[in-house]
Amino acid sequence: MPPVSLYIHFPWCVKKCPYCDFNSFELDHDNFEQEYLNALQSDLNEEKEIVAGPITLHSIFMGGGTPSLFSADAIHRVLDMVNGLFTIEANAEITLEANPGTTDQASFDGYYNAGVNRISIGVQSFQDELLLALGRIHSADDALHAFSAARSAGFSNINIDLMHGLPGQTLDAAMEDLEIATSLESEHLSWYQLTIEPNTYFHKFPPKLPDEDRLWDIFEQGLLLLERKGFCRYEISAFSKPSYQCQHNCNYWSFGDYLGIGAGAHGKISISDSGFTIERTTRTRSPQDYLKNPRRKSTRIPPGSLVLEFMMNALRLKDGFTLSRFEQRTGLPKDKIAIFLQAGLDRQLLRYDDNDDQHILPTELGMRYLDELLLLID
Ligand SMILES: C[S@@+](CC[C@H](N)C(=O)[O-])C[C@H]1O[C@@H](n2cnc3c(N)ncnc32)[C@H](O)[C@@H]1O
Ligand code: SF4
Repeated sequence: MPPVSLYIHFPWCVKKCPYCDFNSFELDHDNFEQEYLNALQSDLNEEKEIVAGPITLHSIFMGGGTPSLFSADAIHRVLDMVNGLFTIEANAEITLEANPGTTDQASFDGYYNAGVNRISIGVQSFQDELLLALGRIHSADDALHAFSAARSAGFSNINIDLMHGLPGQTLDAAMEDLEIATSLESEHLSWYQLTIEPNTYFHKFPPKLPDEDRLWDIFEQGLLLLERKGFCRYEISAFSKPSYQCQHNCNYWSFGDYLGIGAGAHGKISISDSGFTIERTTRTRSPQDYLKNPRRKSTRIPPGSLVLEFMMNALRLKDGFTLSRFEQRTGLPKDKIAIFLQAGLDRQLLRYDDNDDQHILPTELGMRYLDELLLLID
């Protein structure tokens, strides 16, 4: 069976950002911690009961929303709850997402002492005008302070989230953001192109974004800069120093399993009782409804969708997948993808590893045009 990770969703933020379509809501009341922790405990009990048999958690990711709105004491209690019900792998990666507008030295010290060993800081940009245009609650200085506070607290694995293609952003401004980010010597950098998502403020009132040519220049120059600074691109938007790939996200992308707890959290779990099936789980999205009447829904992934679901994830990874992993994670025989593989190879969107014809990787072109590549699945 695949490794199992745990995702814990924290649905509140100080302010909703105009580009964000995550399951996040402005916090409009105090004393939310205890009630939410009680709900997380029930979710954990439920997962433990449903997923019969012993589970060793490969990684834990506390994402949002803004998990750093919760006190270090609350995060400590959450991790104790998890530890009380599941075995956690020795040296498991335990990440917490932090918004620089909600943290200080004491909070990072507390998260570290609670057992968190990886911090992901939502910086987005180091330019105050751009942070303002993105509706962020923090300044460039706040982001720099958050980074050094996380380091001083003892974190030796820090991710910086940056976005590019921002309203009015020049090539120079985008490169300066990358220069500053890399000068901090984080172990990981997530570099996302801003997308305008339905149901966001930016969708209703679109900002003026850089034109296609400038977006392309930013992307190309950015990749070169990151490579020069020793960051290896291992996924479409993820860059790391050697051996600092995000274990939790790599498990998603290699079609591993994960339990999802908290408002709106998703899970995926393989079941091998009578034949091999994979279920997706979702939980009530709205925090208010979730706290009043939490529901967990599970649906089986139809066998006809499994190839697409596997490829959508695995081909995001520069290292692709092996045929035996495909068989192991989907329960399907490798001939199921023979036509797709040939079509991808013919169009030079896929290639075999030089030393292993059981190992398939996306080419540069394949990573760039992943949507087109996925259309080749019959
Ligand atoms: C859940 S948020 C991170 C934590 C925290 N809520 C924060 O924003 O500081 C995950 C990351 O996704 C990225 N992101 C969110 N919406 C995006 C969009 N529309 N386009 C590109 N990146 C986006 C941002 O870089 C953000 O930091
Ligand atoms: S802080 Fe993060 S999760 Fe919250 S609204 Fe902004 S981008 Fe979304």
